[in-house]
Amino acid sequence: MPEKKLIMVPGPTNVPDRVMRAMMKPMISHRSEEFRVLYRELTGNLKYLFQTRGDVYVLASSGTGGVECAVSNIVDPGDKVLVPVFGLFSERLKESVKRRGGEVIELSLEWGDAPSVEQISQVLDCTEDLKAIAIVYNETSTGVTVRDLPKIAEEAKRRGILLLVDAVSILGGDKLPVDDWQIDICVTGSQKCLACPPGLALISVSDDAWNLIEETSRPFYYDLVQMRRFNEKYETPFTPALPLLYALDEALRMIREEGLENRFRRHRICSEAFYNAIEDMGLNPIPIKEEYRSNTVIAFRRPEEVDGATVRRLMDERYGVVIAGGAGKMKGEAFRIGCMGIVSPAEVIQTVIALREALIDQGFKLDVGSGLEAALKTFNNYNYKI
Ligand SMILES: Cc1ncc(COP(=O)(O)O)c(C=O)c1O
Repeated sequence: MPEKKLIMVPGPTNVPDRVMRAMMKPMISHRSEEFRVLYRELTGNLKYLFQTRGDVYVLASSGTGGVECAVSNIVDPGDKVLVPVFGLFSERLKESVKRRGGEVIELSLEWGDAPSVEQISQVLDCTEDLKAIAIVYNETSTGVTVRDLPKIAEEAKRRGILLLVDAVSILGGDKLPVDDWQIDICVTGSQKCLACPPGLALISVSDDAWNLIEETSRPFYYDLVQMRRFNEKYETPFTPALPLLYALDEALRMIREEGLENRFRRHRICSEAFYNAIEDMGLNPIPIKEEYRSNTVIAFRRPEEVDGATVRRLMDERYGVVIAGGAGKMKGEAFRIGCMGIVSPAEVIQTVIALREALIDQGFKLDVGSGLEAALKTFNNYNYKI
């Protein structure tokens, strides 16, 4: 068995023992009452997580499968879809729409930037027959959160345009009240802020989205209308990934026990401690404005004098702490830390110490206690206990 490490990459995250143990339950028939009881409870808790009265569907796939399902249920060849592109995952979202035959109207931004409602409105003003906006809420490659999302959603609704949100690296870790913000389709993955193993994608669907989905030529396996039919009797059309459903069920119970607001606050305070530590060490976060900084993915530039891969290797080998490097065109140029799931002061402090020591080993000059004290001070300010 591989040694257990502190996994601080932006997914998969550390999974609580309770959730791991849940996967050891025996298999059951997915056409049994036992399954329906499990699925009813689980989907009820998903509504709580997504803050929606609508149904949430569970797919046996990673996040990308969820995004592809959402796209292929609303986009027919030739449909116009606005995609703001400001990092690797929004590029992938664009690619998914393209492969489906959609006509992408791209709003291209610098990596580290986030689309604003004004920029989106400008594109909408000069584009006719736009069917949907597809947007990444938290760009994992740059650690940028689209803080204008509620305003963008309002604008989309006002104009009768569907809004598809990739919330893979944020849902469960920061605000995203799907119904209040009027998000039509929202997608996430099990392995990020839910502290559940990888392998499941989750999708919520609004009433407006259903009207559109029903008129779209849908794929066979990822047909949301068929999923809705089975969901009504608390079943899935095809064989569900049972061990992962057990895990998700347990992870959702833990989320309910903690409460969403407490969970968001914990992520926010831990991310603040990370940002304070990073800046105190003289490192630069990638988001170009402070307000864009993600509470779930901390992305910062590699200082010139160190080799990124070596720093990460030292953190792993000496301290058992695993963080990620840059993604896409930022490969080799950045570090990314997942501030997700069961993250608490203990994980933050351990990560900051490992990062500090690895940077020093590589010749980066740091004052005694820099970074670490800034993180501790943040927790003290909130009276947050380790
Ligand atoms: C914003 C975003 N979208 C989509 C994905 C793809 O998820 P997966 O790797 O689970 O397919 C990721 C994964 O990191 C992501 O961060």
